[in-house]
Amino acid sequence: MNKLGILLSGRGSNFEAIAAAVREGRVEAEIAVVISNKPAAPGLARAKELGIPAESIPSKGTRRDEYDRRVASRLKEYGVDLVCLAGFMRLLSAGFVEEFPERIVNIHPSLLPAFPGLDAQAQALEHGVRYAGCTVHFVDEQLDSGPIIAQAVVPVLEGDDEHALSARILKEEHRIYPEAIQTIVSGDYRIVGRRVFGGRVAS
Ligand code: GAR
Repeated sequence: MNKLGILLSGRGSNFEAIAAAVREGRVEAEIAVVISNKPAAPGLARAKELGIPAESIPSKGTRRDEYDRRVASRLKEYGVDLVCLAGFMRLLSAGFVEEFPERIVNIHPSLLPAFPGLDAQAQALEHGVRYAGCTVHFVDEQLDSGPIIAQAVVPVLEGDDEHALSARILKEEHRIYPEAIQTIVSGDYRIVGRRVFGGRVAS
């Protein structure tokens, strides 16, 4: 059985979308644990309500490599074999990435490689792009940069502010993230260079 470990820092709506997909059999895995660097993250409380093991490992005041070692060892104690970042607002160290080679995935609210980093939707609006979207990708030691598993596109409309655009993108995030996770847990894919083949490509 595939065991997912979810890392989040906030609201946790992507976590909830994954949890619903697991419940409904659209993702053939179990969520072994949810870990947050923010003790007050609403996503953590929601995980507890759903009866999923959930714990906070506060990052404040801890060196990055030491923090990442702690999180990695906790994930291993839970037998996690795929780490899913769901609004986890921290850069992961090379040491963490090496602990889970090609077994960490992330969702980012832009069409990467455009607009990595914080406030991707605001960056898109400011740049004046006509299409925005979201990307599920493998995580490597650089920011928002690993091989792309799935993307979805949404239009940017004239009246959009950051809130409206974010909501349109988020709906697509909730659709493609569980699909991409299912592709990975099914094993029905291969990575060639930066390209991921075999899974269904969402658009
Ligand atoms: C999502 O929009 C996700 O794509 C983004 O944070 C939000 C988390 O929402 N992640 C990043 O920007 C990572 N660079 P959620 O907590 O409701 O899932």
